[in-house]
Amino acid sequence: MQVIDTELFGWYCEKVDKEILGAFKQNETVFNQVYESHQWHLEAPHKRLLYFIMYGLLLTEGTPRQRILDIGGGITSLTTLISRKHDYSVMGIGIDPNVKDIGDFKIIPKDWYDFDIDHNSWDIIIANDIFPNVDQRLEMFLEKYLPCCGLMTLSLTYNNGVPKWYKTKRMDDSEILHMLSWTGAQVRMLLKKYQNRLDFSKSEITDFFNNLVKGTETIFPNKRQVCTVSLTGDLHPDHK
Ligand SMILES: C[S@@+](CC[C@H](N)C(=O)[O-])C[C@H]1O[C@@H](n2cnc3c(N)ncnc32)[C@H](O)[C@@H]1O
Repeated sequence: MQVIDTELFGWYCEKVDKEILGAFKQNETVFNQVYESHQWHLEAPHKRLLYFIMYGLLLTEGTPRQRILDIGGGITSLTTLISRKHDYSVMGIGIDPNVKDIGDFKIIPKDWYDFDIDHNSWDIIIANDIFPNVDQRLEMFLEKYLPCCGLMTLSLTYNNGVPKWYKTKRMDDSEILHMLSWTGAQVRMLLKKYQNRLDFSKSEITDFFNNLVKGTETIFPNKRQVCTVSLTGDLHPDHK
């Protein structure tokens, strides 16, 4: 549970990035290097910092095998590694269902909303860089998927600076829509509803909520702010 700031980024660049970048390069093959997400991670240290926070533990030596569902997960050279260590599934609307020779993992080429979760459960659900910047149905997502996981780890993108929006168009109609970035206050308002699922002390949660609305500091070239948060799912042993 943290807001990504320049201090964390400075520490990461100095102490960790060399190893993470090395891992992306070492595991590169002709099959995985063509994916957009892999290229983003090679090019951008801020993407690698997020990767480290969201996936780092899953890649460490001796980590127990987990059932992982990655919503909107990108294919990178480290997908190959994760799929060796875990029962890994990637769900995405843009994903190529015929991905081959990357690793032994399940591809679910679907909008998460349409997926039938009956009889499915996961130790960990990850959603990195999709909510609410790409998909604003975050609350619906939490309501649907928290009941069927042990832990959910999200990176959430918002914008406390000058309001930013995208002009876009309905696919089934000619109507023009304007999709406005969420602010930290909006992210906070939603997360407050789920704060009993944050495994932190009261004062840590208060600090985190304050940081969400605090400033416009950013490490990202497109000026967005990002926080990461883990919520306990209904299958977590401590869930009441
Ligand atoms: C900004 S990209 C992030 C990709 C990857 N997680 C990363 O960090 O490199 C957002 C991803 O979410 C996927 N996506 C968008 N809407 C989705 C939905 N409703 N259901 C599943 N995946 C979705 C897109 O196809 C895309 O791959």
